[in-house]
Amino acid sequence: MMNLFQFWRKKGKSPQTTELSTDNIPKHVAIIMDGNGRWARRLGLPRIVGHRNGMKAVKRATIAADEFGIKVLTLYAFSTENWKRPKDEVEFLMSLPQEFLALELEELIQKNVQVRMMGHTEDLPQHTIKAMEEAISRTKDNTGLILNFALNYGSRREITECLRDITRKVAAGEISPEDITEDMVQSGLLTAGLSDPDLLIRTGGELRLSNFMLWQTAYSEFWFTELYWPEFGREHLREALIEYQRRTRRYGGLS
Ligand code: IPE
Ligand code: IPE
Ligand code: MG
Repeated sequence: MMNLFQFWRKKGKSPQTTELSTDNIPKHVAIIMDGNGRWARRLGLPRIVGHRNGMKAVKRATIAADEFGIKVLTLYAFSTENWKRPKDEVEFLMSLPQEFLALELEELIQKNVQVRMMGHTEDLPQHTIKAMEEAISRTKDNTGLILNFALNYGSRREITECLRDITRKVAAGEISPEDITEDMVQSGLLTAGLSDPDLLIRTGGELRLSNFMLWQTAYSEFWFTELYWPEFGREHLREALIEYQRRTRRYGGLS
């Protein structure tokens, strides 16, 4: 009589491996795309080469997310703290949306992808805003994958601005403090209208959020990998989804 382990070995699979199921695909996947600089350094190349290769990983992740049936893919591309980096690097990062969209927008349109952006856009250079706005307006009626770029995004600033808006209403006498609800906060954030991320992925080996979606990830499942972002592809997303499907989400209740 063969035991289960021998059965799996015979099939050439480790007992851990499972197939990806088509139900229970996370609706919203968010990715902290980290490790571009270290990837480049490992190869003795300038950091910006890492960012350019990171752009290729953005394309792979987008196509794979669409294929796997994910509805929303949020990509952390630039944080409110990333302005601390050298001017050259910041300038290069700000030119990437344009470069990416010049190469990929037509295919995104063909794939029915809807491009969005969340972040504190007022600080972005005009050329970056212009490229993003063109992509947003040309894809606004698309009904497929929502590709949401977090650009100059910072969760603390997002929450602070939301607080300001709500307290202004209180000060104006439009609402009283007792009227403030979680839903009101939720809809005052930059993610208004999107469901919370079901799965949060971070590449690059760091185990932290770096000011990303602090409110929205309250019940997200986290998946971390040592892989640098430019190495990330379809198979890794698949691996993360399989792991996600093994988890039991209890939201504080009992399973
Ligand atoms: C992620 O890669 C891209 C951005 C934060 C814009 P990094 O540039 O942070 O790469 P590492 O973490 O230095 O390797
Ligand atoms: C997080 O990466 C921001 C993005 C991926 C856009 P960082 O490289 O900025 O994070 P820290 O500084 O290591 O926390
Ligand atoms: Mg980093």
